[in-house]
Amino acid sequence: MERRWQGVGRGVALAYNPLMSDPAISPDRFYVTTPIYYVNDRPHVGHCYSTLLADTVARFMRASGRDVFFLTGTDEHSERVASRAAEEGMTPIQWADRNAGLFKEAFAKLGFTNDDFIRTTESRHKDLVTRYVRTLLEQGDVYLGEYSGWWDHSQEEYLTETMAREHGFKSPVTGKDLVKRTEKNYFFRLARYQDRLLRHINENPGFIRPEARKNEVLGRLRDGLQDVPVSRGGAGDGGAAAWGIRMPGDEGHSIYVWIDALFNYLSVVDTRERRAYWPADVHLIAKDILWFHAVIWPCLLMALGEELPKCVYAHSFWIREGRKMSKSLGNFIDMETIDAYCDRYGTDALRWYLLTQGPMGATDADFSYAKFVEVYNADLANGIGNAASRVINMIHKYFDGKCPSAPSDSDDNARPLPGRARDAAFRVSACMGENDIGGALSAALGLSNAVDVFINDTTPFKLAKDPANMERVGHILYDCVESIRIAAVLLSCALPEKMGALLGMMGQPVPMDDGSFEEPLDKLCEWGRLKAGDAVTKGEGLFPRADGADPEPGSR
Ligand code: MSP
Repeated sequence: MERRWQGVGRGVALAYNPLMSDPAISPDRFYVTTPIYYVNDRPHVGHCYSTLLADTVARFMRASGRDVFFLTGTDEHSERVASRAAEEGMTPIQWADRNAGLFKEAFAKLGFTNDDFIRTTESRHKDLVTRYVRTLLEQGDVYLGEYSGWWDHSQEEYLTETMAREHGFKSPVTGKDLVKRTEKNYFFRLARYQDRLLRHINENPGFIRPEARKNEVLGRLRDGLQDVPVSRGGAGDGGAAAWGIRMPGDEGHSIYVWIDALFNYLSVVDTRERRAYWPADVHLIAKDILWFHAVIWPCLLMALGEELPKCVYAHSFWIREGRKMSKSLGNFIDMETIDAYCDRYGTDALRWYLLTQGPMGATDADFSYAKFVEVYNADLANGIGNAASRVINMIHKYFDGKCPSAPSDSDDNARPLPGRARDAAFRVSACMGENDIGGALSAALGLSNAVDVFINDTTPFKLAKDPANMERVGHILYDCVESIRIAAVLLSCALPEKMGALLGMMGQPVPMDDGSFEEPLDKLCEWGRLKAGDAVTKGEGLFPRADGADPEPGSR
């Protein structure tokens, strides 16, 4: 995809964007990733959520003028793929093709703007993984040894003796029995990098986020690091291990799926054209895979002499009625349900619910229809939707659908909205720079709520009863419509379709498919772009009220 704003944005953005004034952050490029998802599962709300967070950040950064690379994809060399494919009477790649297709389809339907979709079975990835592992072997960071440990088959990872004991020899994630397994394996000298990793975490407070997750990693690091296996095959499980990238120089082993998978973040941008995107600005993941991302991955990178990602952000889980979503409970919010929500309320409404109510912090979030309806009505139907239609309707009623003229002094104390708009733009930008998407959206929505309050305080609908007040009414409505315009720009990364429609009604530039605008965000957020006489058209209601008495979308 063409990068529209490379190099632009830097100067102009300095005016208010704290991101741009931090020299540690590349002012131009921004690289955001999601986990690559196992192809054994069908996509569900959890996968969509992580990818939605990345999509929203990517859209915002593009709108800010950054040159963004947003990566997602599928993790395909898992042992379970080989065994499941055999059960289905398919080859592993046939099975992987089918399910990778489902992820692509789901993400396309939700309008995600990923710049690439990596499948670990592609040769562009496999060739580079082989090269990375060969380098590690040659420099002695990977060696052949024997390993005995507690194998969590459901998660395809080993647990230390202490961890296994702590969890009663059951998988901490799925509760399934752990098995004692001994393998002749290649090992990565993880222990060698312990001190450097610890120093890095302590010197870079933003490296592992949120704080609770950082403390969790630091706690586990106190036990000390042991070398970890990076290959499979020594246990004689030939069939499954044959499905994987060969260990360089040893046909009997394949590279452990987790090591293979982590390298995707680097392999995809390890090309002449994309190299400059590395290091990633943020790896968005959930807490289940934190250890791999916050410990093993940075140590592998150190061993290869690569820079470390700036942030590993591990959110929590969506749960359902207080319980983990799982295959055995059959309580996933699956794509059928997601489609049904989108069909009834629009994709933006679902995006909004997930983004504002999701588990970005340290606690899990319950997916609830009642909450969806409550939030939809409060924030969208009665919030930005109502504020916009109130203002536009009055402009039609009193000014024939033409933007009234602006008052002369935007620093006038009786005019709270210009200052509110400036603050909102600043806060949205500051929050997004910290991956605080909820904070950013609440600041943007706060601006449209301030419009409502301003209308109630100044009562233009009453003033308009006396023709002598029309200049004052016009001034009030100008501040309102200009604030709505800025709120729409700021909310467009979360609500691209509806805010595009709203901006269109005001004859303003609308976001392009990738979330960027023709001009960078800080220019668009400058006060006073709407001019007297600009046509403001009435559109269809943006967010019709939801009725909680209707059955849940997709319920059978
Ligand atoms: N393939 C590995 C990741 C390799 S990354 C180099 C994997 N795949 S997965 O399919 O199990 O996806 C796990 C990720 O999906 C989580 O880290 C999270 O991003 C997302 N989610 C899966 N279930 C989720 C919830 N219930 N709630 C929120 N997100 C969840 O692990």
